[in-house]
Amino acid sequence: MYTFEILLLAVATAVMYFINKFTYFIFLLSIIYSYKHVKAPYVLIPLLKVQNLRTKYNAKWAIVTGASSGIGECISRKLAEQQISVVLVSNDEARLQAVASDLKTLYKVDTRIVVVDLRENNDVLLREVRKATDDIDVQLVFNNAGYIAMEGFHQSTVESKLDNLNCNAINAIRLTDHFYKRMLHSKQRGAIVFTSSSASVCPSPYSVMYSAGKALLTSFAESLSIESRQHGIDILAIQPGYVRTKIFDPLPKLALLNFLRLVAQEPVDVVNIMFKCVGRLGMTVVDSGFFAFLSKMARIFLGGNLMTVIIAFIVNHLMKDMEQYRIIKI
Ligand SMILES: NC(=O)c1ccc[n+]([C@@H]2O[C@H](COP(=O)([O-])OP(=O)(O)OC[C@H]3O[C@@H](n4cnc5c(N)ncnc54)[C@H](OP(=O)(O)O)[C@@H]3O)[C@@H](O)[C@H]2O)c1
Repeated sequence: MYTFEILLLAVATAVMYFINKFTYFIFLLSIIYSYKHVKAPYVLIPLLKVQNLRTKYNAKWAIVTGASSGIGECISRKLAEQQISVVLVSNDEARLQAVASDLKTLYKVDTRIVVVDLRENNDVLLREVRKATDDIDVQLVFNNAGYIAMEGFHQSTVESKLDNLNCNAINAIRLTDHFYKRMLHSKQRGAIVFTSSSASVCPSPYSVMYSAGKALLTSFAESLSIESRQHGIDILAIQPGYVRTKIFDPLPKLALLNFLRLVAQEPVDVVNIMFKCVGRLGMTVVDSGFFAFLSKMARIFLGGNLMTVIIAFIVNHLMKDMEQYRIIKI
């Protein structure tokens, strides 16, 4: 069924091999394998070792958004473990102070904090970030902050929709623009990592801004990675499925979320995959966890239209607890 694609990839693989890009050879082999065995990103990742980013990029400072909890806090701890100092960003000052003092005590690294509401689309973020970082070289940027707003499209204002997009995607572009140019200017290597989501490939009714923002991140990362490579800047978008963090706390306890809890990952699993994959084997978009794997395979093998039909059926016929979102309250 996929003979043509496999043939095409085989030719591409051979070409890459002969121009001595061995890593691409291995990577393409894994793609071919995935077409046959549906095991795409899992073929290689378990075999890789977590990289030391301080050594890899000669990096002394990193910035992490959403560093006050969950995946972002875990990224910050992993960086500090590798003796990389961290600028911690979120809107919860007390939590940021607590994480910062923990990192200082446990790993003896420097920390700085930036308290900012990432829902805002103005120059405050850059002003605050510049105050905290203009005198240091930040070579590792983790655009990780995000939240889910769950509601029917008719139930929220356009402002709150755009707030979600600002936090989950637009301000990540703002930060990337700033630090990318700084790295180019100082001719330093570095990495920019985006915490996207499997929602970027999976239609997500009642949280449409979330999946749209994540799709933007993934696409942005994929395209930029081609330009950035020549400047020594690696780009990675990681797409986790369901991870056990507080992101779901404000959401209603839906049957779907309860089910996903069964296949959930811990934040450290996601962070290990980030640190294994960044700047390696040409990897730009990586899935993390069973649900992400399932979503990606559905997208490849069923396509967007069929996925939409299946998800509509599940939501409309099997999930009675979604009823609340269909009630029109104007
Ligand atoms: N958990 C999952 O299943 C999952 C799956 C795929 C992708 N992701 C993505 O992973 C990233 C991290 O989420 P998480 O799961 O670790 O959840 P989390 O524990 O809730 O962490 C989210 C972080 O983002 C910060 N944040 C949220 N809204 C903000 C705002 N308006 N201004 C500044 N900071 C803000 C939070 O700060 P506060 O401490 O102030 O709230 C927190 O530090 C998000 O981008 C999320 O979309 C998560």
